[in-house]
Amino acid sequence: MLTRRDWFRTAAATGAALSLNPRVLGAWEGRAWKGQDLISRAIPSSGEQVPIIGLGSSATFRRVAGSGEVEPLGEVLRTFVDKGARVFDTAPSYGDSEEVAGELAAQMGFSERIFWATKVNVARGGSADPAAARDQIERSFGYFGVDTIDLIQVHNLGDPPTQVGILQELKQEGRIRYLGITSTRKQQYPALAQAMQDYPLDFIGIDYAANNTSAADEIFPIAMDRGIGILVYVPFGRNLFTRASGQELPEWASGLGATTWAQFFLKFAAAHPAVTCVTPATSNPEHMLDNIGAAMGRLPDEDEQARMVEVVEALPPAPRRRG
Ligand SMILES: NC(=O)c1ccc[n+]([C@@H]2O[C@H](COP(=O)([O-])OP(=O)(O)OC[C@H]3O[C@@H](n4cnc5c(N)ncnc54)[C@H](OP(=O)(O)O)[C@@H]3O)[C@@H](O)[C@H]2O)c1
Repeated sequence: MLTRRDWFRTAAATGAALSLNPRVLGAWEGRAWKGQDLISRAIPSSGEQVPIIGLGSSATFRRVAGSGEVEPLGEVLRTFVDKGARVFDTAPSYGDSEEVAGELAAQMGFSERIFWATKVNVARGGSADPAAARDQIERSFGYFGVDTIDLIQVHNLGDPPTQVGILQELKQEGRIRYLGITSTRKQQYPALAQAMQDYPLDFIGIDYAANNTSAADEIFPIAMDRGIGILVYVPFGRNLFTRASGQELPEWASGLGATTWAQFFLKFAAAHPAVTCVTPATSNPEHMLDNIGAAMGRLPDEDEQARMVEVVEALPPAPRRRG
């Protein structure tokens, strides 16, 4: 395994991008594929189209970024860009994720092809120091090596009056293209709903999955009404892989073009018309290919989404955690 420093040195010396593992490419053999074939959605505030599947960078991506052995993340990002995906969701609080993704993208020469979606949050005890927020944002610019960041969101509703205010200024200056607010905590949904009324947001980021659909009742209608795009977080519902382990995928899923449980879960999350992009995290290039496969074929209609929820409800419960 190459260390992070070794990988950067090798890539810089050869000018070469990583070659994909033949086994990974084999997963796509026989599938007619072109970047433009990915299902895309329009960002409500601009009409700009983005592929419905992106990439997140907390969880395992963050762990590998911090391990110093970044080769798999190079392959993940290379696969992501090669297959035509664009939206990369990250945050200053995801350890080394911003820095490593920025360096890898620069080494492979595709920084400009990524839709960089990061966050800001320096709020402590409810209030954010504006100078610290601006410093954090400047570090993100430095890591990505771009003049314009596509999207910055206030992470977990940290002091919106201060931090959304800064993002509004940056948008006016043309340094960011879109702004938003995120939350993945049910207790914060009422405050998020209020913020969606109070601020001119382009996006929100929120948790939504086949076993976690409250956002569709409480938040999605407001987003559709106000023309706010949605990045879906935690699309595997925190325990869906454990519950589906060893279980047969329903035969009718093949009619949607879903060949794995990951694609089944992602197609569910992507199907809601309020959703702009689903950003599952992965540190594994084969999983990246698998996930992008959810942006092919078709998305389930309302009846099929209801059937998907029934399938998930019938899965065995996750084993209870000890301690
Ligand atoms: N408040 C916020 O703003 C907030 C909160 C939560 C999340 N987010 C964003 O949303 C992203 C997604 O959420 P998440 O990272 O919590 O959870 P997630 O995307 O639901 O789950 C990631 C997990 O699923 C595994 N995985 C990914 N693709 C797979 C596949 N095809 N087959 C099998 N396993 C697969 C990953 O492991 P491998 O590495 O082995 O693939 C990892 O363990 C985050 O990374 C972050 O960018 C934002």
